[in-house]
Amino acid sequence: MVPERTVSTRIPVGVLGATGTVGQKFVHLLRDHPLFEVAELVASPRNGGKPYAKACRWHEPEPMPDHLRDVRLTTVEDKLSSPVLFSGLDSSIAGEAEEAYADAGHAVISNSKNHRMDPDVPLVIPEINADHLSLLPSQDRRGWIMTNPNCSTMFLAIAIAPLYRRFGVESCTATTLQAVSGAGYPGVPSMDILGNVVPYISGEEEKMEREALKILGTLRDGSIQEAVFEASATCTRVPVFDGHLESVSIRLHAEPSLDELAACLNDFRGPADVATLPSAPEQPIRVLSEPDRPQPAKDVTREGGMVTWVGRIRPCPVLGYRFMVLGHNTIRGAAGAAILNAEIAHARGYIE
Ligand SMILES: NC(=O)c1ccc[n+]([C@@H]2O[C@H](COP(=O)([O-])OP(=O)(O)OC[C@H]3O[C@@H](n4cnc5c(N)ncnc54)[C@H](OP(=O)(O)O)[C@@H]3O)[C@@H](O)[C@H]2O)c1
Repeated sequence: MVPERTVSTRIPVGVLGATGTVGQKFVHLLRDHPLFEVAELVASPRNGGKPYAKACRWHEPEPMPDHLRDVRLTTVEDKLSSPVLFSGLDSSIAGEAEEAYADAGHAVISNSKNHRMDPDVPLVIPEINADHLSLLPSQDRRGWIMTNPNCSTMFLAIAIAPLYRRFGVESCTATTLQAVSGAGYPGVPSMDILGNVVPYISGEEEKMEREALKILGTLRDGSIQEAVFEASATCTRVPVFDGHLESVSIRLHAEPSLDELAACLNDFRGPADVATLPSAPEQPIRVLSEPDRPQPAKDVTREGGMVTWVGRIRPCPVLGYRFMVLGHNTIRGAAGAAILNAEIAHARGYIE
């Protein structure tokens, strides 16, 4: 049972998998957060009991926050007191551990794949389907679990959502060029990726083909009716540090001009209460007109890494339209996404 909070200005949160790529990004992004304050850190049994600074090979550009350096890491066997837990746990442990935390009364906001497709677990991108949060009270637990999509699905779903709603989507294909940070640390061995492209990422294509349908689904009578269109994904790993670039072709039900399609993407906005959240980008999608953009090295960290960049909108002789999509896999595709999810859950009263 999570103890009641007494006097506090910010809500104490725990980071599960705090030593990992996503966990460190949580710690970094939450350092001055107006609502949440990192209080507890969890890692694997090999690091349990160690001070965070000793156990963690810190990769963020700014130093580890001073007040967390000496915090002792706990393991998933230990009880936590923070009401909100951000999970960057390895998927081998995330499924069971997140359930146990939710059963104990915590609000678990997860990045892991394990519960994304559970019928009562919202798979949320706040600009698109914040209404799916109403599934949370139906979970048969003292707390709850919510998730964000896989880091490649994220950018595909954000780019498709406005087109799906305005023009209807019949089918789409996506080929990804995914950064090495998407594989966690130490991730892909350097001798496998330097000067190379690996045309396979285990399980990734299936996630891309399924998750977008749930995100774009409609909530009816307490359950989600998934969107219906055909999706085909090919996922590759490339020697880029951060940023997943995706080549998307799409067949729509309507036949907008290229300018109308670009305007539909660029003008897309989420609900009003999402737009004002601390981590929300001013504009979820920005369309670039330069012929050679977006590029990971030039665009992915702009505007805090929360924007989805679209460029090279042009006709596709096979499916009608095609374009490139780029996003920051560990920010908008992981930790930043989960923090935005927690912010909308708080704004809508699911976190007190
Ligand atoms: N990287 C991305 O771009 C990205 C994007 C979206 C989603 N995700 C998902 O987010 C999760 C984390 O990914 P990552 O890239 O951060 O991986 P990572 O760098 O390998 O980190 C994994 C974390 O899980 C912890 N862990 C491993 N086994 C554990 C155990 N038995 N008990 C408790 N903690 C354990 C590790 O702790 P130790 O350091 O102590 O081993 C580490 O903190 C994964 O589920 C991944 O699929 C990643």
